[in-house]
Parts: sequence; C-alpha cells; structure tokens
Amino acid sequence: MKRTLGTCYYPEHWPEDIWAEDARRMADLGLTWVRIGEFAWSRLEPAPGDMQFDWLDRAFEVLGAAGLRVVLGTPTATPPRWMLDRYPDMLALDAQGRPRGFGSRRHYCFSHDGYRDEAVRITTALAERYGQHPALGAWQTDNEYGCHDTVISYSDAARDAFRIWLADRYGTADALNRVWGNVFWSMDYTDFDQIDLPNLTVTEPNPSHVMDFRRFCSDQVVRFNAAQVEVIRARSDAPISHNYMGRITEFDHFATGAEMQIATWDSYPLGFLEDRLEATAEHKRRYACQGDPDFQAFHHDLYRSVGHGRWWVMEQQPGPVNWAPHNPAPLPGMARFWTWEAFAHGAEAVCYFRWRQAPFAQEQMHAGLLRPDSAEAAGYAEAARVAAELAQAPEVEQARSPVALIFDYQAAWSWEVQPQGKGCDYFRLVFEIYRGLRKLGLSVDILPPDRRDFTGYRMILAPGLEMPPEGLVDAIAGSGAQALFGPRFGSKTANYAIPVPLPPAISGLSAVVARVETLRPDMPVAVEGGGAVRLWREHLEGQAEVLDRDAAGAPVLLRAGPVQYLGGWPDPAYLARILERLAAASGLETVALPQDIRIRQSGPTRFVFNHGPEAVTFEGQSIPPAGVLRG
Ligand code: GAL
Repeated sequence: MKRTLGTCYYPEHWPEDIWAEDARRMADLGLTWVRIGEFAWSRLEPAPGDMQFDWLDRAFEVLGAAGLRVVLGTPTATPPRWMLDRYPDMLALDAQGRPRGFGSRRHYCFSHDGYRDEAVRITTALAERYGQHPALGAWQTDNEYGCHDTVISYSDAARDAFRIWLADRYGTADALNRVWGNVFWSMDYTDFDQIDLPNLTVTEPNPSHVMDFRRFCSDQVVRFNAAQVEVIRARSDAPISHNYMGRITEFDHFATGAEMQIATWDSYPLGFLEDRLEATAEHKRRYACQGDPDFQAFHHDLYRSVGHGRWWVMEQQPGPVNWAPHNPAPLPGMARFWTWEAFAHGAEAVCYFRWRQAPFAQEQMHAGLLRPDSAEAAGYAEAARVAAELAQAPEVEQARSPVALIFDYQAAWSWEVQPQGKGCDYFRLVFEIYRGLRKLGLSVDILPPDRRDFTGYRMILAPGLEMPPEGLVDAIAGSGAQALFGPRFGSKTANYAIPVPLPPAISGLSAVVARVETLRPDMPVAVEGGGAVRLWREHLEGQAEVLDRDAAGAPVLLRAGPVQYLGGWPDPAYLARILERLAAASGLETVALPQDIRIRQSGPTRFVFNHGPEAVTFEGQSIPPAGVLRG
C-alpha cells in the first residue's frame, strides 16, 4: 500500500488567479490529495436550480493538471440561506425546542424529508458531472456528522418520523406499552400519534422511550448518508468516505461505514486534549503541545475497523486551532509525529487541514500549512519532511493485533440514558481500558459488537456492553482467547429493562450481580493487592472462582476458565494488574512503558513514539520529544 499525503482546499475562498500556483506548490510539497467542495453549496447553486459548476470544473482542471487527485465533498453540511425559505421547518431543534439557526453550519434536521431530497439532488448533480472525471480520486459525504451536537433533533419532522419508526418496530401501541413498561406512571398510549419526543417532560422520561429515540436518531443519520451513497455509487466507481470526528458516539459509525469503502477522521490532538478528555490538570499541562498519548491512536484503531481496514486522516491539525478553551501551538515536530502515528496504525493517507489559513470568517485564527499571506507556516516543513521520508520508507504490513476491544455505540447511548452516577460514561471506561492496554505496550484492534470471527486474537475485552447482541459471548468464549467482560455487561434487555435472570448471565460463569452502586469520586474502594474500584461497583454473588476481592473481602473479579468478569470500574493501578494478569494468561508479553512512550506493532514493524515534552531513554536509545523510532 502506498502511503500518501494531502490537504483540504477551498478554491471558492481564493481568487482564481492563484489556484494554479497553489496547485503547483501542493504538488511540489509532495501532496497527492486535495479535498474540496464540502462547504461550497452557496457557490454551486446561488439560487434554487441555478447550477454554477463552471468554477468547480476549472478547479478540477487546475488541480488535476498539477497531478493532484481530488476528494470531492458533498456540500450538504451547509445548506444555503435560500433553502430555509423553501423549508422553514428544516432546522434541527434543541432539547428546549429552540431552532439551531442559520449562520454557521450543520443546521439541518436529519429527519426532514424535503432537505434529504435536496441533499440527494445536489449530490446527484455532482456525481453526474464529476463521477467519471479523471482527476477524481474519492468522495466524501457531508462533513463530520454529529459535530456541534447535531445528531439529535427535537423537530416536528423528527417526531413524525419517530412515530413511524415506532409503529414499524412495535406494530401496536399495546405492544409498545408492554415493552416500555408504560403502566409505571400511567404513561400508556392508545395510538402512535400520541407519542412525543422525550424532551420537555417534568422529570426523567421513560428510559425505554429515550433509548428508542437514540436508536432512531442514529438510524436517521445512516439513512441520510445511505441516500447520498446510493446516487454516487450509481455514477462513480471512486471510493466513498465520510470524515468522522473524535469522541462522537451519537450515531453508529459501524452502520454508516457499512455502506462506504473508506473511513476517514479528523484529528485535532491539541483541541481534543483540552476539549474532550477527562484528565487531571497535570496531564493536560504535560501534553498540552503534543496531545494525549492515546486519544488519536484510539480513533485510528476504531476507524480502521469502521473502514473495513481502509482509513485515512482527512483533516490533520498542522498548527494551533481556534475552537478549544486554549489553543497552543504544537511542539516543533508534532505535525510530522502525528502523521507517522497515523501511518503506524495503518492509515492510507493523511491530509492537513487546511492549505492556507483564511483571514476571514469563523476560522481566521486556525492555522494552515500556509499563513494568510501565503508564506509557509510551521506545519509546511514538517509535511515536506514526511513526504521525503515516505519516499524512502519501507512497506508496513498491516497485521491483526493480538488484543481485541469491543466498541458498541448502543452501549454509549444506554449508559447516557441512565448513567446512575456522575462520570459514568461508556466512552470514558473503554478509553481508560484502551489506555491501560497501551501502557503495557500492547497493540489493539477495536471491533464492532456484531463481530463473530475472533481468529488470531489472544485477548478480548468487552467492557460496559449493557445490551450485548446475541451470539457475542459465545463467540468470544469459544474463541480460545482470554476474555474480560464487565462492568455492567448484559445489565439491560434490548428494551431497556433489568433482565431476569439477573446479569451478567454468561454461560459457565456462576455469578449474579445482586446490587449495584455508584461511588463519589473521593470514595474509591480499595482492592486487595493494590488499586481500587471507583465510580461504579457491583456486589457479586455465586460460585465462580474469585480472583480479586475488595478490602472487606467481597468479590470484585471472577473467573471461569478463560472468561473473567469484572464487577467495578478499576482505577489505573488496579486496571494495570488486571490487564497484566490477563496478558500473561494469553501468553502475551507486556512492558511497563515509560509514561510518555507508546508502541505500535504492525506485523514485524515496531514503531516507538515519545509523546512527552522531553527526551526519553528507552531500550538504550534516546528518543527526542515528538520523536518517532521505526524498528
Ligand atoms: C473540523 C471541520 C473543519 C474545520 C476544522 C477546524 O471539525 O471538519 O471544517 O472546521 O474542524 O479545526
């Protein structure tokens, strides 16, 4: 596989007479890809039906002539102002019922049929015109579904579509009442038309109602995307992708990904550290200019799976961004470092966002590869260096990792519906376990919950899956790998009720979760041998072998053969003990890595990354800050 670089470009932002020079500089820099078009609707169709493709034709021409390959984005994240005159009710509404107004982006409701038809119409026009263009290399649908909290909408369109979705699922109101437990507070319905969206209730709405709404919202994204994919597919053979984001769990990315050939994501390591991570002030200070050592890797491993093995970074931060609480400049070398980290995890391409910093509008404080005056910004030389390195670099075989970690979007929703305690968040739990694995030097594949073939995996972890799909436990237990389930595993039925018999109901494991509790952050429960459980704790009964007990002698971790069940949220010290023991039982070697070092093993190639602000000596070699070793 040839690894390539690219950038995100907005020809409509710049005078046409500089396009050719821009294209030449991109090619000279060693870039292959140029993504364009994803916000250009108001220039492609300034008034309804007035299609203005000439400028885009010329942009294709100029970029193609320089030898660049175009990734064409559909412009559906930014419906133009006239669209609102046509469909005043197309805006998404927030939970308070307020419209998410025009004047930025992503201001549409996924359930609005009229808008979806418009999105299909513009996509069809683009696919017809450029689907066979020699410069076209790939497609991107829309832009960052879910960014700015835009999956969930409480509009009338969403309400009407939700009623239809429910009628399809349950058939009769009686069946729905039974399944949701509507007898509880006299919430029974006699008709689907009586069912509103689960907002603006006096106190907590019925969790089954919320859970179904969350499933519905995810399905609406999948449907919206699939409609674009279908019309593109009919007119173009180029691969189709979508640029996902970091820590967005409101829709099932595996389901959108099923329709497309490549997954891409937008990697903003410094923004994410400030904006999207639970971490101590000390941690945020240490990594302020490098980014968290595990957050990018987690998403690389996740999106590799969403893309069926084919994935890119579509937007790579090359300098300070504009949107986090603080926006420092990356340490010198980080743009190169992040690029190599992505390649180590199997990326086919890394594209820098953006080519030139725009001196106008919302992102004028966001760095690009070029400054607003077209001089090279700091990231430029780093991109040039990677391009030169790539020309020399040997192939890296993409091999299966020894460790599998299951990630389930539905579990993220079910935890949110009834977290039971502050801080109880599914992504946070899974990410902490991922970090724990990486700190031991292990490489990880993140897999969807419908995965059944675990051939080759030595260790499989399925934390927090409240509603495991049928067949998953048996496939894992029968795989020959060492497995870890829990906490909260199997703790809800698909209808959002507590199952009886009580969880975890793992065959062969005599154990019942008799009671659960959540703990104040300052009241962890010590575990014998070191570490503690915190936030979430289960009281386990049964005959299964007890591997760990808390300080009062109550079981925390159980085992039956290769299967272990964890009845609590482990702190880092206890987690390290659990994972080391599991790895040893799996026959996997672990290393207690220095704080800043992470390893990615891909087949015979091992990459060593120093995420710290200082040089670190590792295995006899001094690795500079932002340093990458290949061996
Ligand atoms: C991404 C988005 C880009 C740009 C960038 C700024 O979320 O896709 O269009 O806004 O952030 O960091």
